[in-house]
Amino acid sequence: MKLKVNGETHELDLPDDIPLLWVLRDELQLTGTKYGCGVAQCGACTVHVDGRAIRSCVTPASTLAGKEIRTIEGLEGASAKAVQDAWIASDVPQCGYCQSGQVMSAVALLEQNPSPSEGEIHDAMKGNLCRCNCYSRIRQAVKDAAVARKEEA
Ligand code: FES
Ligand code: FES
Repeated sequence: MKLKVNGETHELDLPDDIPLLWVLRDELQLTGTKYGCGVAQCGACTVHVDGRAIRSCVTPASTLAGKEIRTIEGLEGASAKAVQDAWIASDVPQCGYCQSGQVMSAVALLEQNPSPSEGEIHDAMKGNLCRCNCYSRIRQAVKDAAVARKEEA
């Protein structure tokens, strides 16, 4: 299969049903994307496919030919910078395990909707669980990132 990840095309000889998460972590050594539940329930494995947040643990890599896959290692652009800056300013992470997925969901949201309402932030982020219960800092950082994006525009 041929996969484009973070702008680079990889030719890989792998079973058709292999989930994208295993390709990223085990074949491409992109270990910023985490394994949490393996059944699309926690969001730790969130990456972007054509700019949308998806769960890589349940997405067969063979379905992604011709698509743009982006992981935390390949994040770039104004929304990514705003989210990263807001995360640092609010000192969001505790253990950090869920954070790659949280950031990927937040960036996908702001790329599609630079001025999300409280409800839209909730909807976009509700599939990303945090066992350290950092939800209030996460939500605040998404809001701050949206404000920063608006001020820039
Ligand atoms: S590891 Fe994919 S959603 Fe939990
Ligand atoms: S920071 Fe520990 S699980 Fe979210």
